[in-house]
Amino acid sequence: MSPLNRRAFLGATALGMLTACTPAVRTTPLVLPTDPRVGEVEAARRATGRTHKVTLTAAPSQVDLGGPVVDTWTYDGAIPGHEIRVTAGDVIEARVVNRLPSDSSIHWHGLALRNDMDGAPDLTQAAITPGEEFVYRFTATTPGTYWFHPHSGTQLDRGLYAPLIVEDSSDPGAYDAEWVAILDDWIDGIGTTPDQVLADLRRGGGHSMHGMGAQALGGDVTYPHYLINGRVPTAPTTFTAEAGQRVRIRLINAASDTAFRVALGGHSLRVTHTDGFPVIPADTDALLIGMGERYDALVTLADGVFPLVALAEGKNGAAFAIVRTGIGDAPGPGIRPSELYRTTIGYANLKAAAAVTLSPKPPDIVHRLALTGGMMDYEWGINGRAGDLAGRARVHEGQRVRVRFVNTTMMWHPMHIHGHTFQLGGSGPRKDTAIVLSGQTIDCDFDADNPGQWMAHCHNTYHAEAGMMTVLGYQA
Ligand code: C2O
Ligand code: CU
Repeated sequence: MSPLNRRAFLGATALGMLTACTPAVRTTPLVLPTDPRVGEVEAARRATGRTHKVTLTAAPSQVDLGGPVVDTWTYDGAIPGHEIRVTAGDVIEARVVNRLPSDSSIHWHGLALRNDMDGAPDLTQAAITPGEEFVYRFTATTPGTYWFHPHSGTQLDRGLYAPLIVEDSSDPGAYDAEWVAILDDWIDGIGTTPDQVLADLRRGGGHSMHGMGAQALGGDVTYPHYLINGRVPTAPTTFTAEAGQRVRIRLINAASDTAFRVALGGHSLRVTHTDGFPVIPADTDALLIGMGERYDALVTLADGVFPLVALAEGKNGAAFAIVRTGIGDAPGPGIRPSELYRTTIGYANLKAAAAVTLSPKPPDIVHRLALTGGMMDYEWGINGRAGDLAGRARVHEGQRVRVRFVNTTMMWHPMHIHGHTFQLGGSGPRKDTAIVLSGQTIDCDFDADNPGQWMAHCHNTYHAEAGMMTVLGYQA
């Protein structure tokens, strides 16, 4: 990330330096990733005793997206990278080999894991330099649909992402089959790179589209392709099952600048989980999914061939896959099932399942994080500061924390908090990433039970890199 972040990390490692520039810290030291408390909390996590070992090699690769062949960066040559699937309580031991020409790391998005394994360079670890490797080792405690990606620069807008599924041994789930559908917006290797896109945005030209995209869930970047499981619409993935079967679809939005409206032609979706956590099941025709968000939905399949369409909201284009339970011609990639334009469920229609609803309790501390900035200079920030990782929003272990995101900008932002899953409103869905519309305020409540230093940022890759990030810092 930016030199700013590097300074913050170095400052944090040498505590003296940090206290020197932030007087308030003198009396209240931060709980750093290296703090013994991080290991104590990890040791108390319920563990199965099993260890799941993987090696992930991040490297430049040439990939066929189903027509377009692109030079990009991947994990092990595949887009998405190979899924990691474990049972809750398993330890994941991931050896990450960096063969990229650039610093990198892996962030395990959505997992409440030990802070020193969170993969935020310069905050929770030093970046993995080119040619080096790093072994992540942590307990995956909470079941659900997660994913992983780098946390350096614009790398997420290349091909570096993959699903991470944590199964629940106590709840096998009432379904016959399961599909992971990972959505992406694609530009890398199509005459440009994400680094050039960011440079263009900063110059206020190139791929950017101003104004109109702001109010709706549009974005800043025009993408040539939208993908489901690494395939363009003209060469779609086909999911097969039998008519009458119940399927759990795990939707993951790995895009950098695109929200998707998702529907399965001829079917309604029963939403069962948001960002890995169960909700009281709710039916909808379509789902709106911001960057970083996940939804699990159950569908009972009809007999035939059906389009799974993810419309790039506020943009011209869609990602596309096929669901097949019978014989027949597949629908073409231009199809727009009517379900896309019927009921779209929102946060207000979703309630966390009783087992994961926070106990009612007023917050011990409220952090107001105003989302600031604009397209003009492409400078984004939090409380008017860009990429300020030294000015931390402080919390104490054991507190009920409320993060109040106040969007003062003309754009929408999918805001993500590391290491915790918050509740929206009193009984709303549990989330780790939530869309905040222009002018909107949302309250994210959570129990501070995972000591360390945690990033909070916009999951628009370009907004984050342009400064919309801060740190929630536990203090002793
Ligand atoms: Cu998925 Cu800090 O990110
Ligand atoms: Cu943003």
